[in-house]
Amino acid sequence: MSDTNQDNKISRGTDGLFSRQGFIRTALGGAGLVYAGVIGYPVYRYLMSPVEKAEREGAVTEVTLKDAQKLAPGSALMFKFASKPSMLIHHDDGTWTALTAVCTHLGCTVHYEAENKCIRCACHGGVYDPKTGGNVSGPPPKPLKQYAVTVTDVAVVVSRKPQEHA
Ligand code: FES
Repeated sequence: MSDTNQDNKISRGTDGLFSRQGFIRTALGGAGLVYAGVIGYPVYRYLMSPVEKAEREGAVTEVTLKDAQKLAPGSALMFKFASKPSMLIHHDDGTWTALTAVCTHLGCTVHYEAENKCIRCACHGGVYDPKTGGNVSGPPPKPLKQYAVTVTDVAVVVSRKPQEHA
């Protein structure tokens, strides 16, 4: 038996001999699969159809904000409802409001201005009512969507309003 033949054999299994080339082919195949997954998944997410995105968004019906009941009156907390920026506002009179924080004009994220008691969009100056999400001024064509709010001893639960479940 020649030395060259011995060099090509790296181990002996119960079913026979494995060649170095076979091992390298298997390793490269595995690495290729991992590489395809790492590249492919973000591309799939980017290309996901709007229908699939809407279904995923609709699957989330409630978000629990642990310890949010401690939010000081006159302040707001930003959070995500599914993937949408949203805000919880604790008003000075003790009432609570939760709204989407996505401007209905061109989709910028809006912010609560405690000193002016309004929600403002910095992109084009849209202003919303912080208690209702209604339009006050500027270009936004529709109000911000409101969520239902339940305050407990340990959290604030924000959920879709019943008419949105259909
Ligand atoms: S995107 Fe908000 S006012 Fe234009």
